[in-house]
Amino acid sequence: MTRNNETPADTPLLKVEDIHISFGGVAALTGVTFEVKGGEIFSLIGPNGSGKTVMMNCINGLYRPQKGNISFDGKLISGLSPHQRAEMGISRTFQKIELFSGMTVLDNIRLGRHIHLKSGILSSCLYVGKTAREEIESRKFIEEEIIDLLEIEHIRNHVTGMLPYGMQKRVELARALALNPKILLLDEPLAGLNLEEVEDMARFILDINEEKRWRVTCVLVEHDMGVVMDLSDRVMVLNFGEKIAEGIPHEIQDHPDVIKAYLGEVEELYVTRR
Ligand SMILES: Nc1ncnc2c1ncn2[C@@H]1O[C@H](COP(=O)(O)OP(=O)(O)O)[C@@H](O)[C@H]1O
Ligand SMILES: [Mg+2]
Repeated sequence: MTRNNETPADTPLLKVEDIHISFGGVAALTGVTFEVKGGEIFSLIGPNGSGKTVMMNCINGLYRPQKGNISFDGKLISGLSPHQRAEMGISRTFQKIELFSGMTVLDNIRLGRHIHLKSGILSSCLYVGKTAREEIESRKFIEEEIIDLLEIEHIRNHVTGMLPYGMQKRVELARALALNPKILLLDEPLAGLNLEEVEDMARFILDINEEKRWRVTCVLVEHDMGVVMDLSDRVMVLNFGEKIAEGIPHEIQDHPDVIKAYLGEVEELYVTRR
């Protein structure tokens, strides 16, 4: 199986135009527009409640904005279901871990793949031919590449719910990768991790983005500003559902509106890990 991320570097892979969404009359996003180029790590930052997770939900189809368009890979996807978007190569992790805690690591990863494929886990049991080949190929792909990349060989047969939190976050990343995505939406992948785990996770995100085998474009929501500034090609800042800044990391760090939005959290912007 080969990577299919063939979108030319200067063409936007993801185009988000004028998104408006409100809940019970309370605006969560107001007129947000941005583009993510193929190959980028594009970070989405902002204070708590500024609309970052809502934006991720709009991109993967969990939420339908009241206004605005989203295009992916040159196609309008605003009307598509999360499942259809996953099939196009949009994968994600969640702010709160969403794994099957009673199942093994390997089964969680396999399910992550099956959920999104036409030939679901049930039909895989019933049919041969294309589905069987797909199953063998996908198993090989999952076991040999993802487990290897994320260094989870030693826990592949462990029950997920029994693992330390940091390992569960890693398994969630593995599950999201099992889709062989073109774009990966990462919602606070570092939250709750200790320093060593943060460094590991940051390295994995870079590997997924940079390694020739993967080259996955990433949209990263994260509060750890050291890591955001280190990893990101570009950063967009939301405040109360509006875009207040966008640029390369050092432009964002010095941006007066950004500093104002983070008033009280301002130290966060200047914490550098390395
Ligand atoms: N399903 C929902 N129903 C009602 N309000 C919501 C829902 N999802 C998000 N919100 C509201 O939208 C705003 C942005 O939330 P969110 O995107 O989760 O913030 P964050 O930037 O911390 O991820 C918050 O005020 C939140 O309460
Ligand atoms: Mg959030």
